[in-house]
Amino acid sequence: MNGCEVEPLEDLADDYDLIILGYTIWFLSPSIPVTGFMQSEQAKRLFKDKPVVTMIACRDMWVMAQEKMKRLLSDVGATLIDNVVLTDQGGSLYAFVTTPRWLLTGKKDPFWGFPAAGVSDKDIKESSRFGERLLDGLIKGEEKSKQPLLKHMGAVTVNGKLVATEKIATRSFMIWGKLIQKAGAPGSFARKIVITIYAVFLATLVLTIVPLNILVRRLIYPFRKEAIEKSVKFYEEPSGR
Ligand SMILES: Cc1cc2nc3c(=O)[nH]c(=O)nc-3n(C[C@H](O)[C@H](O)[C@H](O)COP(=O)(O)O)c2cc1C
Repeated sequence: MNGCEVEPLEDLADDYDLIILGYTIWFLSPSIPVTGFMQSEQAKRLFKDKPVVTMIACRDMWVMAQEKMKRLLSDVGATLIDNVVLTDQGGSLYAFVTTPRWLLTGKKDPFWGFPAAGVSDKDIKESSRFGERLLDGLIKGEEKSKQPLLKHMGAVTVNGKLVATEKIATRSFMIWGKLIQKAGAPGSFARKIVITIYAVFLATLVLTIVPLNILVRRLIYPFRKEAIEKSVKFYEEPSGR
């Protein structure tokens, strides 16, 4: 959650009825530039007392990041009224391959039975329903009540089986993040060594523990169903499914 410095946005109005904040996820946190922006003086001015709709596009692990975003929003005095999440097509296991391929080669097309990388065109097109509902709400001044406008429109679907994995991974990222920072300044030799060790550790984790964890979670799901469904409901707030 150490954001970078960002240049202030230009050509903004002084005041807004509603703010739609689009962001993406890096390592189970809001991406560094968005975190930096939310910690800026400009965000403090813009967001104070405003209703906010967050709009996430990511692979499929966004729940812990949104919890951090909730804190950033409350730090600037804003009220989160809705959350819309678009995740990559094809499910988690496919995205483990299609996202790194996209990141490393720039290729998004389907290949060898894998779907295209990223959010599907269909999901993007169908999102216009959220814009239409928000416009309708704004015309009627409904945003002033700071209550959700996108309830039960399929704005979010939490995958309950991934929440525990996200929690474990968040803890791991925090520990490694601190270790990497302590190792030295960005670009220093010591930091490069710790990052190399971390990269090997992460790749091993992704290839072994993560699939194993997903399998174990599937197996124990029937026994933990009630608790998982309760947490799913919580993380799907405020828009609901
Ligand atoms: C450094 C990095 C870390 C990422 N971490 C996550 C993550 O924790 N959860 C997730 O669902 N997607 C993650 N993604 C995927 C992004 O959220 C996003 O789907 C992808 O980068 C495409 O969006 P872009 O074109 O805005 O980069 C990560 C991407 C990058 C580059």
